Amino acid sequence: MTSIRTFGEFREAVAAYRLPRIIFTALDLDLFTAIGATACTVPALAKRLRVSPRGLEILCRNLACAGLLLKAGSRYRNSPLARKELNKKSPACRWAYLDLLRGHWDDWSQLTRSVRRGRPVDDNDDPDEPAYRRRFSWAMHHRSLDVAPKIAAQINLRGAGTLLDLGGGPGTYALAFLKQNPVLQATVCDRAPALTVAREIAATMPHGKRLSYLPLDFVTKAIPGRYDAIWFSNVLHIYSPEENQRLFRKMAKSLAPGGRLIIQDAFLHDAHGLHPQEASLFAVTMLLFTEQGNTYSVRDTATWLKRAGFGRVRTLTVKKGTEDWDGGILEATKAR
Ligand SMILES: C[S@@+](CC[C@H](N)C(=O)[O-])C[C@H]1O[C@@H](n2cnc3c(N)ncnc32)[C@H](O)[C@@H]1O
Repeated sequence: MTSIRTFGEFREAVAAYRLPRIIFTALDLDLFTAIGATACTVPALAKRLRVSPRGLEILCRNLACAGLLLKAGSRYRNSPLARKELNKKSPACRWAYLDLLRGHWDDWSQLTRSVRRGRPVDDNDDPDEPAYRRRFSWAMHHRSLDVAPKIAAQINLRGAGTLLDLGGGPGTYALAFLKQNPVLQATVCDRAPALTVAREIAATMPHGKRLSYLPLDFVTKAIPGRYDAIWFSNVLHIYSPEENQRLFRKMAKSLAPGGRLIIQDAFLHDAHGLHPQEASLFAVTMLLFTEQGNTYSVRDTATWLKRAGFGRVRTLTVKKGTEDWDGGILEATKAR
């Protein structure tokens, strides 16, 4: 998004809620699943969904304008994306991530309250509640299943025999690293219910046999074992600077001499701590969902890593368009 200078740009920025709301209503109605592989008229689809033909006509017209539906004559069908990834009957449907995003609509509506109090929204899910953790872990898998192999292909783990995926949730990244590195052994560490999801996913892949599981609260407990590399992806933003510094010291102890801690997160890159915008927007999600989380600058994170005893800290460059976050990977090496 470019910066807002005129009232016209302001109006446009504010009106950007409309299309997401339209899409969430389509998801609430499970419209993409109801259409599936068929071509439907509005009255027939309205009957199937038990909604008003008038409402549905306006909804479908907008979804077609956005390219999620295709219109031919008086019939609508799913676009290839909607048919494959938004339709719950498709094996490639990313339903858990879609559900997570839908929930965000209500949570983001409570932002004013969260800003007033500096605290997360009230009905926050308990991170240790098994059903929530399972859903969230599937959502993380559905979010990163196509990014993880691209990242794994660009991070050189040669020389590393063991990898710890700390806060690895469903193990999507650990599995991508295992596929890319045929002699690597990986361990995914997370809360127990997240690891049941990781086991289910790993069981569907031959390289999943090289994945081990470490159920642990790594904030309150010591991290057992010694690893050549630690992958710490999308966890830094959950915790405060102090908590992260404590975690870095723990991770330094768990690495072999010369071992590498590789951190992926929504880093801020500019001197003012504002950009990329996506990283500042993500800090809002952390305000809404965590007690102390935030997004951090590369410079501050590098300072914490040095304080925790790491030697060289550098940003790893991956090809544009293949990354989880813009410039979002830092590597810190433990001295030999
Ligand atoms: C945002 S998800 C990231 C998952 C994965 N690393 C990725 O990049 O897709 C954060 C993960 O860290 C785990 N986590 C956070 N704090 C934890 C703790 N104290 N102990 C164990 N796991 C924790 C959560 O359960 C969750 O699976």
